[in-house]
Amino acid sequence: MWLLIALLLGDWLLLQVSSRVFTEGEPLDLRCHGWKNKLMYNVIFYQNGKAFKFFPQNSELSILKTNTSHNGIYHCSAMGRHRYTSAGVSVTVKGLQSSTPAWFNIVFYLIVGIITLVDTVLCMTIHKKLQRKKKRNLAISLDSNHGKKVTSCLQKDRHLEEELKCQEQEEEKLQERTHQKKPKKEER
Ligand SMILES: *[C@@H]1O[C@H](CO)[C@@H](O)[C@H](O)[C@H]1NC(C)=O
Repeated sequence: MWLLIALLLGDWLLLQVSSRVFTEGEPLDLRCHGWKNKLMYNVIFYQNGKAFKFFPQNSELSILKTNTSHNGIYHCSAMGRHRYTSAGVSVTVKGLQSSTPAWFNIVFYLIVGIITLVDTVLCMTIHKKLQRKKKRNLAISLDSNHGKKVTSCLQKDRHLEEELKCQEQEEEKLQERTHQKKPKKEER
């Protein structure tokens, strides 16, 4: 049975399609014919505005196995007394692969769940280990830091003392020089 879906454009040409919605693999029949089945010739079929099939006499086109590439809006044009063009008819072909099978979803969520579980367990064990290490390190560093601070303070003191001595020595030298220079000037 033909389904009359196409609209009449002007007063003449009709595009009929066997169905408007398909599942991939099903056949699609297109029929382009004139009003009251008047004889038409030089029939052109268009998909999304692009001519894809020309029939000098015939006006029926069969696609045996549809796939998603057959989606789109179809129309046809044909010669009678002059060239007529039909209205567009949209055809939808549902792909089989587009809906993911149920087992895939189940496996996917299982894997994600396992990964999350492993991650959390790993995180927790690492966290615990780190905390234990931190406690140990803290105890050690407290002891060693105390010692270091004392020694560094002592060293700093020594440095200061040395610097002071140096400055004093330099000042003494400067004073000596000025004392030596002054008398020379006085001589001239
Ligand atoms: C769809 O089917 C046509 C034949 O009708 C074929 O030429 C084309 O390669 C197919 N496309 C896909 C994406 O399978």
